[in-house]
Amino acid sequence: MRIAVAGSGYVGLVTGVCLAELGYQVICIDVNADKIKMLQSGRSPIYEPGLEPLLQRNVISERLHFTTNPEYAYTNADIIFIAVGTPELKDGATNLKYVEAVSKTIAEFIKDDVIVCTKSTVPVGTNDKIKEIINNLKPQELHVEVVSNPEFLREGSALIDFFHGDRIVIGSNNHQAATLIEQIYLPLNIPIMKTDIKSAEMIKYASNAFLATKISFINEIATLCERVGANIEEVANGIGKDHRIGPYFLQAGIGYGGSCFPKDTKALVQLAGNVQHPFELLKAVIEVNKLQQSIPVVKAKQLLGSLKGKSVAVLGLAFKPNTDDIREAASLVIIQELLAEGAEIAAYDPVAVPNAARVLEKGVTFTKNIKSALYGADIAIIATEWEEIKSLPLDVYSTYMNTPIIVDGRNCYSLEDVRDHPITYVSVGRPAIIKEQSKILIH
Ligand code: UDX
Repeated sequence: MRIAVAGSGYVGLVTGVCLAELGYQVICIDVNADKIKMLQSGRSPIYEPGLEPLLQRNVISERLHFTTNPEYAYTNADIIFIAVGTPELKDGATNLKYVEAVSKTIAEFIKDDVIVCTKSTVPVGTNDKIKEIINNLKPQELHVEVVSNPEFLREGSALIDFFHGDRIVIGSNNHQAATLIEQIYLPLNIPIMKTDIKSAEMIKYASNAFLATKISFINEIATLCERVGANIEEVANGIGKDHRIGPYFLQAGIGYGGSCFPKDTKALVQLAGNVQHPFELLKAVIEVNKLQQSIPVVKAKQLLGSLKGKSVAVLGLAFKPNTDDIREAASLVIIQELLAEGAEIAAYDPVAVPNAARVLEKGVTFTKNIKSALYGADIAIIATEWEEIKSLPLDVYSTYMNTPIIVDGRNCYSLEDVRDHPITYVSVGRPAIIKEQSKILIH
């Protein structure tokens, strides 16, 4: 079985590498020649734990190839995965230009019957369009089936998710095509659900929208906890014990970011509008998330009054730990608002600094370690719960900062631990700990 994977971004690359690891012959194709060169030499353009060694192993064993040449990729392929980006348009709708372009190229270069399997997150009905594009342009004698196979990988744990995912969804209106795709995944021993194309497309959006809803819901409860003096960790633990709710995705914080939830929730709102069903619940989820990302700045202002000329340490820039991805990260919103308030910012992240430096305007000093960011700071804002940050001894804050005040957007420390230190600590949905020496600063 020869597999081609169109698009060597996050989803395409992980899929290509992992399918090669399962023993298939895989050719990954991308239009970006620099990226392809890098991949051919066994280096990963993205930071994803465990990916590079697997990439190298499969390149060396010649199961995994990279190319910019569509003829080489598509001509002899039995299955072509589409894993190109589906970015957001200004109005929140999905930009399908890459999906359409790749569909045309596939039609132009195939020389045999093929199954096209879409991994890119696409609005309901897109796979029918892909089929139409390919059927209109392909050589007439060839037969092409299109299958929807949405992706549920999480950044930072993509390999674990690929090899040990909860389910694999295969949407097809053709039994034979669905069975062939199913066979690819059988060695993984993951439950496989076969369904129709439109339901498969909807499962992806509904999953992400539901998870985003869980996060906005718990963040709203966290704010209520702060107001009434309850503790969100106790509350999340208590509600999560109900099997119907479940214990996962109830971590209150400064909102969801990344390349999926923000984009997919907006796309689903768009899709709902297109069928005259305004999705009010999801609109509220998006709005709550937007407000949540600014909360650390609101809290910093409550603690320090004006932030003008204040020195702020921002710890963590990635939208979540174990990734260098800063897309839609709360840290970016926080930093922009701090700059607008006239604060001076020293920011630290173990891996995301190069990406952040590309998008952030001047006025931010990026440091090589946490201590340098904290040195002389009036306040520290924790934006990402990296292990390195969570395990940082609390003494470091009191030793290095000008005034040891922490606004923790990710609840990295236990309140019991903080109470033993001369630190003012304001987290999410938990009682604030205000120490005597900071009281004079608090307005
Ligand atoms: C998500 C989906 O989980 C995955 O199935 C889909 O394929 C892509 O989108 P990802 O964006 O990589 O994955 O990260 P995820 O771990 O889901 O976290 C998304 C955001 O939600 C992060 O900003 C994270 O900090 C936040 N989050 C997550 C919370 O604030 N609280 C939680 O309890 C869980």
